[in-house]
Amino acid sequence: MKKLRLGVIGCGDIAKYMMMLSKLDRSLDIVGFADSNKDRAEKFAISYGNDARDYYVDYRDMISQKAVDAVYIAVPHFLHYPIVKDLIQKGIHILCEKPIVTELDHAMELAELAVNHQVKVGVNYQYRYDKACYRLVKAAQNEHLGKLYYGICNVPWSREASYFEKSKWHADQKQSGGGTLLTQGSHALDILLWAFGSKATRAMGIVRNAKFETVEVEDTALGIVEMSCGGIIQITSSMAVAKEQPVSITLHGSKGSAHYMGPTLSRTKFTSVRVPRYKPSGSGIHPLGRSMNAFVNWVLHDTPYYCPISESIPVLASVLAVYRSSVSGKAEEI
Ligand SMILES: NC(=O)c1ccc[n+]([C@@H]2O[C@H](COP(=O)([O-])OP(=O)(O)OC[C@H]3O[C@@H](n4cnc5c(N)ncnc54)[C@H](O)[C@@H]3O)[C@@H](O)[C@H]2O)c1
Repeated sequence: MKKLRLGVIGCGDIAKYMMMLSKLDRSLDIVGFADSNKDRAEKFAISYGNDARDYYVDYRDMISQKAVDAVYIAVPHFLHYPIVKDLIQKGIHILCEKPIVTELDHAMELAELAVNHQVKVGVNYQYRYDKACYRLVKAAQNEHLGKLYYGICNVPWSREASYFEKSKWHADQKQSGGGTLLTQGSHALDILLWAFGSKATRAMGIVRNAKFETVEVEDTALGIVEMSCGGIIQITSSMAVAKEQPVSITLHGSKGSAHYMGPTLSRTKFTSVRVPRYKPSGSGIHPLGRSMNAFVNWVLHDTPYYCPISESIPVLASVLAVYRSSVSGKAEEI
């Protein structure tokens, strides 16, 4: 069986979960780990690598010394653009953590570059590989819910000051590009945008520093996104809630409604309609692992990956329009 030779760039929080899940994936050969923090890279090489010596402080050394088909990128947001651009130009396939970048023109530029270099770039919006989210989306796309009227998603999460102390880039507007809406809420918004399938046209929003007053990015955000089909999406995202609660995503159509709760023990309940048990592609016990497995299959066997770079642009554009609206006080074109 052919294996995908994968390099990992960024050995922080999410990469750890991804590696724990991907270690079980027999279609993957994880050949090296790069992190500007040498200790982290070395720890990953020991825990998840083939050889404890396969660690690098500069990802470019890993790329030049190892035969790598693809990389998984999990570094602070401001580093996505230069690293993705460099690797596309080197012809290496990429699974990049969300958001693809923090500026829309950079996202468009990279999407075009990927096409020109025939490089596959996926963005890890792994809720697309959550079975219950996928069923909600398929119920919408296959018209079980009828004409789609409106969707509401809520991400009532909780973070402590240690979240910003441990990874300082989270608190820095330039390095992160935004707070809870971009970093956490965008997963749920991405699902509703995918379900509607039409173009996001305008957005309005308000953001607040409800809990973390000295941090540069918002900890609470409310947004409304208008769709070209006439549908409306409302999103609330927070990391200031006293006790973390499940994410909910509700979608109402002319024939029925879907109500998702997750991501732990995720499930979608339908009202007024019967919906088949649609299943996402990718194998694995967790959406993160399924997303990686589907990316591997995309590169090796050309089976579609649900979030290629072009599909990650609407959610970035919508979040950035909500941010602009929170400053202008007006609805902003997307
Ligand atoms: N898909 C998800 O559910 C999910 C969840 C959490 C985070 N993320 C995303 O993953 C990415 C990383 O987030 P995190 O929470 O793991 O952050 P983190 O701060 O825990 O880890 C980032 C790592 O990148 C390393 N790094 C910094 N500069 C580097 C460079 N130039 N080269 C190589 N490594 C470098 C840091 O040393 C650190 O180990 C972000 O895009 C974030 O939005 C996704």
